[in-house]
Amino acid sequence: MSNFLWGSSISGGQCEGGYSSRSETVVDIIPQGRETRFQYLDQPGEYMQRPDGFYPSQKGVEFYENYKEDIALYGKLGLKALRFSVLWSRIFLDDTLEPNEEGLKFYDDVINELLKYNIEPIITTIHFDMPLWVVEKYNGFYNRKTVELYEHYVKTIVKRYHDRVKYWISFCEINVMNHALYMVGGTVLKPGEDREEVLHQCAYHKLLANAVLVKTCHDIDKELKVGCEVAGTPYYPLTSSPDDYEKMMEEERKDSRYTDVMVKGHFPYYFVKEMKEYQIELKEEDLKFMKENTLDFIAVSYYKSSLASTDGTRDNPMLKRTAFGWTIDPKGMRNMLNRMYERYEVPIMIVENGLGTYDKVEEGKIHDDYRIEYLSKHIEEMEKAIEDGVEVIGYLTWAAMDVVSTSEGMMSKRYGFIYVDREDNGEGTLKRIEKDSFYWYQNLIQERTKNDG
Ligand code: BG6
Repeated sequence: MSNFLWGSSISGGQCEGGYSSRSETVVDIIPQGRETRFQYLDQPGEYMQRPDGFYPSQKGVEFYENYKEDIALYGKLGLKALRFSVLWSRIFLDDTLEPNEEGLKFYDDVINELLKYNIEPIITTIHFDMPLWVVEKYNGFYNRKTVELYEHYVKTIVKRYHDRVKYWISFCEINVMNHALYMVGGTVLKPGEDREEVLHQCAYHKLLANAVLVKTCHDIDKELKVGCEVAGTPYYPLTSSPDDYEKMMEEERKDSRYTDVMVKGHFPYYFVKEMKEYQIELKEEDLKFMKENTLDFIAVSYYKSSLASTDGTRDNPMLKRTAFGWTIDPKGMRNMLNRMYERYEVPIMIVENGLGTYDKVEEGKIHDDYRIEYLSKHIEEMEKAIEDGVEVIGYLTWAAMDVVSTSEGMMSKRYGFIYVDREDNGEGTLKRIEKDSFYWYQNLIQERTKNDG
């Protein structure tokens, strides 16, 4: 496991803030809401009109202002890698071809600061944070024009940072677009449109854009490694009924259809059939381009598993759940890694895994033994997968510090090793406090990397 990337992740739309020096992203206009937010991340409805309200992503946890202090803490934690997203909306403030030098300079500073602490920077080009102007002017990835805009954006940032950034990730959880068309695809449905047809068109363009990043990186520097993140949610059939098994297979395909194209370089037969059904033309030159530009590694997030049945998907009653109802299934991670490697045979980087729950500050300390237990069990299963022979190149937790949660927009659903004093209503000092898990992970990294060269 020499030079294994023990690290953590954050994303611009959830931590940066710095709202006045950039243009808006898709998540900036979606308010908090434990039961409701996700529906707006799929279709924003009235929020496209930007009514007054509290919008947590506009402030994040002010990483933009605090990046030096935050990265110093990541250095103290001993991270070997940090994954973060560049905000496209900071680099191109609007539909202009001229990049914003101030934005480019910010990520120069972030990268240089990480390198100062020997932390490998890993860039995600879009992490649920597409610029709003791309949605408003072009309707996101529904429109092929967005692939062109994306190409211009990634050429700009890869040229600028490739001398210091080796690992690039095109998109965060491409398959989450199945449920969050607006947040992941940047696309808003018009009345009467067929959701599945629109989704498949977005998928086609996103897959093309993914190949654009691969080509851009490899043209600029052959040593660069490119991945795309998929949400790795394994399914079990609810019962031994062949119907439930069939349902499970259908659910799995909704995820693997993306990975199949990006890694194998061609549309699998079941995806070709779907595309035909929605009358989406698979153009010869695009297919050739995708075949020639496949991923070097798969980036995967793992939080939970799910059950498939003829009544839809549901949670597994055999498993415990988090305070937010997510099932806890460490073993599912070993199985998922094995199945993924057996199918694709390319290296896998775990780019997100973590426990989102409430934390309590007691006399200035956070005793999050529950998080330590969660992470330890998952790491144990990942290490078993490595013993099985799966080529895992890194393990990055979600998240290095507390950030705004995606599903609910809440601060109190915390994932970090570093507590951030900010409440759900935006109040708080923003003070950073190291949790018990901070010292546990610091120790684990030291232990696991003591023989690294
Ligand atoms: C992943 C996302 O889906 O899960 C992150 O890439 C997100 O952005 C993380 O924060 C945890 O999900 P949530 O909804 O609890 O924040």
